[in-house]
Amino acid sequence: MTASLRFVPRILSGIQPSGSVHLGNYLGALRNWVSEQHEADCYYSIVDLHAITAEHDPRTLRDTTKELATVLFAIGIDPEVSCLFVQSHVPEHAQLGWIMESTVTFGELSRMTQFKDKGKGEEKVRASLFTYPALMAADILLYRADKVPVGDDQRQHIELARNAATRFNNAYGQVFTIPEPMIPKVGARVMDLQNPSKKMSKSSSTDSGLIYLSEDSTSIAKKIKRAVTDTENRLVYEPDNPDKAGVTNLLEIYSAFTSIHPQEVADSFTNYGGLKTELAELVIEHLTAINLRIKEISEDPNELLRLLQIGAAKAREVASSTLYDAKNAIGFLAP
Ligand code: AMP
Ligand code: TRP
Repeated sequence: MTASLRFVPRILSGIQPSGSVHLGNYLGALRNWVSEQHEADCYYSIVDLHAITAEHDPRTLRDTTKELATVLFAIGIDPEVSCLFVQSHVPEHAQLGWIMESTVTFGELSRMTQFKDKGKGEEKVRASLFTYPALMAADILLYRADKVPVGDDQRQHIELARNAATRFNNAYGQVFTIPEPMIPKVGARVMDLQNPSKKMSKSSSTDSGLIYLSEDSTSIAKKIKRAVTDTENRLVYEPDNPDKAGVTNLLEIYSAFTSIHPQEVADSFTNYGGLKTELAELVIEHLTAINLRIKEISEDPNELLRLLQIGAAKAREVASSTLYDAKNAIGFLAP
């Protein structure tokens, strides 16, 4: 067979180190990070600079950053294949962030719906929450990423990054690649087990609707058993029926782990109890393997830091070269 030249796209994505990783993060985003490693040249960032745009506790931030890195390696991010790094270890982000703040306008930033949502009702909104999309544009553009896997809520930020890159290139010369968003199709949304009309989210008021990746088996089984369904005991897959939101969520989680269509899953059970028991077994089986890896990695904190240093060095190689080009294009005198 003749070797064929294949274009390998570059992917960049980021996740904030705020709170523990739950099943929604895993099935909706992080699991794809793992599978994309073999399709693309992947750069994944734990975006701690973004995590200080809202009130935070320094010690918690350090702990959640380590925890997130541990989980990412535990689910299968392979440091030999992909580049996983902590954003603050790569100072080029903050530097290009400033250049991006000088590329986008106040009007553009004012139209960002996430800023309006997160800033609403808050007494002291940090200035960085407002300029955050300029930093996010820098995160992406530094790596000349072709594709950016994100949830639908980030679509507007990617659009801003595209506009900023185009504007910069037109004004100062071709430096940046125009990135495309990669937004998963519906189905990758995991709902709260106690309130199935809402997304499973770390900002939920109770813990009983969330399953964390580091949770123990007894607790997982209990939460799934107590998951809210409905009083009909009619096991059908009706994704558009709000009265069936609870059972739809359970069927879709089952489907996400097995790749069996939710309709087929519904057909293979006669009652909610049976579905819940098997779903709990399935989730426990998957998370037990991840948990073992989490424990192994946690036993050697120096190894974790070593892997992150390797990631940062690899990221800096790419980021510093792009930053150099951007500084040169914009007219900064080389030192
Ligand atoms: P967050 O922790 O909300 O910043 O989300 C981190 C990543 O996980 C983003 O890509 C989200 O789109 C994804 N995510 C968060 N919650 C869910 C959920 N309940 N279902 C599916 N994906 C989710
Ligand atoms: N803003 C993203 C979120 O809140 C996180 C993020 C920061 C990101 N920089 C990024 C995502 C670059 C993709 C690419 O989820």
